[in-house]
Amino acid sequence: MKIAVASDHGGFRLKQHILDYLAAQKIAYKDFGTYSQDSVDYPDFALAAAEAVAAGKCDLGIICCGTGIGVSIVANKVPGIRAALCHDTFSARMSREHNDANILTLGERVIGPGLALEIVQAFLTGKYAGGRHACRVAKITEIENKYCGPK
Ligand code: RB5
Repeated sequence: MKIAVASDHGGFRLKQHILDYLAAQKIAYKDFGTYSQDSVDYPDFALAAAEAVAAGKCDLGIICCGTGIGVSIVANKVPGIRAALCHDTFSARMSREHNDANILTLGERVIGPGLALEIVQAFLTGKYAGGRHACRVAKITEIENKYCGPK
C-alpha cells in the first residue's frame, strides 16, 4: 500500500507529523509537498496527490490544509476521487466502509496531532463493505461520467 500525502502551508506541520507516523508504521508514501511553511496555493498540491490516486500510482491519499475544506473541494474535482473531510474517527472509518473514500482530508487548524493520527489510522484500516453501498458508489461514478466523461 502506498499513500499520496500533500498539504499547503496551513497543513504543513500536520503533514510532517503524518509522514513521521507512516514511516514509523513502515507504510510507503509519496510526499507531494509543500515542503515548507511558505505560503502556497492549496489547489496545486491537492491536485498532484489526487491525480496520483486517480491514476493508481498511489492506493490512498491524505491531504491537509488549514481546515481540510479547500483540499477536499479540489480533490473531489478529479474523476475517480472520493475525498472525505473527517475530524473524528467514526467518520473516517465510515468513509472507507460506506463511501469507498480514497482520500482523507484534514485541517491542521481544527484538530490536534494526536486525534489526527487516530483518524489516519481509522481511515487506513477501514475496509470498503461493498454490498448495498456498491450501487450508491456506482451512482457517484455515473454522475462523474455525466459531467466529465468516462475516466
Ligand atoms: C490557507 O490560509 C488556508 O486558506 C488553507 O490552508 C485552507 O484552510 C483552505 O481551505
